[in-house]
Amino acid sequence: MIKDIIIAIDGHSGCGKSTTAKMLAESLNYSYLDSGAMYRSVTLFFNRKKIKYSNIDDIKILLNQIKISFKYVNGVQNTFLNGENVEKEIRNEKITNLVSKYSSIPEIRKYLVQSQKELGKNKKIVVEGRDITTVVFPNAEIKIFMTADIDVRAKRRFKDMKANNPEITFSDVMKNLEDRDIKDSNRKDSPLTYAEGAILIDTSDLEIDDQVKKIIDIIEQKFS
Ligand code: DC
Repeated sequence: MIKDIIIAIDGHSGCGKSTTAKMLAESLNYSYLDSGAMYRSVTLFFNRKKIKYSNIDDIKILLNQIKISFKYVNGVQNTFLNGENVEKEIRNEKITNLVSKYSSIPEIRKYLVQSQKELGKNKKIVVEGRDITTVVFPNAEIKIFMTADIDVRAKRRFKDMKANNPEITFSDVMKNLEDRDIKDSNRKDSPLTYAEGAILIDTSDLEIDDQVKKIIDIIEQKFS
């Protein structure tokens, strides 16, 4: 039995962070926070309102109208935007291509970081994203940085996305991943970077079960 801790996971798009974090939370009986779903929901909100990422004035005014919550539907955690289940819509290609633009806006980051900190205040949580180990929970007891070879990530993502969107091509997926890697790691506010004290896990040759086991081993080693 491990004590109540925060497990913070950052890493590149498509390296299996979400699935690993979800399974890890389940096996520890912890909550799971998908911070990317929050950036995707904000992107959907402004896209629906036709407010461009360059329109910072309107973004600032409307930001506090956005309430994001998570609820289990048929055993799966779903994302709700102002009470509406948006789980499927926030994962579509349009939002996936736009999210880096909105997530580079400091006002949006500040707003979401504040609510992420609130959601983690009682610990017993696995949180994943891009700035969790560096900005949101730099003092988390366990900090992980996940990555994988871009070809491996693109193949995995393509398989997942193709199921919902038969039109999508491998090169669309590769382009989106390359673009997000560059934007996530080079934005001015809270870029994706390796935090002090983080443990690197390369998932190129790992199955999801191995990834979960690796993190459980790290936790047991630290707390036994
Ligand atoms: O994890 P994801 O692919 O669902 O995240 C979607 C986008 O949100 C990602 O391209 C960058 C952004 N993001 C972020 O900037 N900070 C986070 N903590 C999580 C996600």
